[in-house]
Amino acid sequence: MPEYNYSDAEESSQYIKQFIKSNPQTAIISGSGLGDIADMIQDSITIDTTKIPNWPKHSAPGHEGKIISGTIEGRNVIMLQGRFHYYEGHSMKAVIFPVRVIAMLGVKEIILTNASGAINDSYHAGEIIAVKDHINLMGTNPLIGPNESKWNERFPDMTNAYDKKMLNVLSSLGLKQGVYAAFSGPSFETPSEVRMAGILGADLAGMSTVPEVIAANAMGIRITVLSCATNMAAGIQPEKRLTVQEVLDGSKRASEKLSGIIMSLIKYLNQE
Ligand code: HPA
Repeated sequence: MPEYNYSDAEESSQYIKQFIKSNPQTAIISGSGLGDIADMIQDSITIDTTKIPNWPKHSAPGHEGKIISGTIEGRNVIMLQGRFHYYEGHSMKAVIFPVRVIAMLGVKEIILTNASGAINDSYHAGEIIAVKDHINLMGTNPLIGPNESKWNERFPDMTNAYDKKMLNVLSSLGLKQGVYAAFSGPSFETPSEVRMAGILGADLAGMSTVPEVIAANAMGIRITVLSCATNMAAGIQPEKRLTVQEVLDGSKRASEKLSGIIMSLIKYLNQE
């Protein structure tokens, strides 16, 4: 069982480096059912993550374990299809391990997508929201434990956790900005939890993302998060029950629009 420490990540990144032509500048990390974005990647090489030493194992529906390397608009990108969730029983160290590894490959920015429930009742199901900040209600933090100073300092700043420049690009594309509250899952939230998160200032509820955002910030990697509000959060529409099928269907419908947004972000990064 790997400890997901620095030397484990070095071993994983060395394995990946054998397959990729040049160091990726931008990583795309995609969530539930949002894997279609891979179709945008040119000159692509696919790496089966089950072959990568120390890589955690997948179990969530809609999360294929693949890494795709190639270019979009001439920019070197690496896409991680599917990721690891705390609710799967992975340790937080395993959840952020892919972010640690891509940092070693030289990634400077991450574009991350996820699915969430809309707490803000001015949002509609299927809308894509740019995350501007988060509230960590997962009850833990991925940096707990002895500090690996080669990776990050003990107390990383989170003041501008979501890259302002990329957020400005997303606003110019007409996306609303919202605050994401992360719960551990896997049960969906109760209506009271959703109400509480709304009172605390959250617009979206989800079960992922915050660990990766913390890890990226700690290592000085810029990150932007596109959240597909696949459903209204529990209790926002009284009596309506939530299903994972609704989440997967919503993600599928949003996938084309998300691809367009990611393309615009990459074009922006190219001329930055
Ligand atoms: N809550 C938490 N996570 C989610 C939801 C939700 O309503 N929808 C999709 N992911």
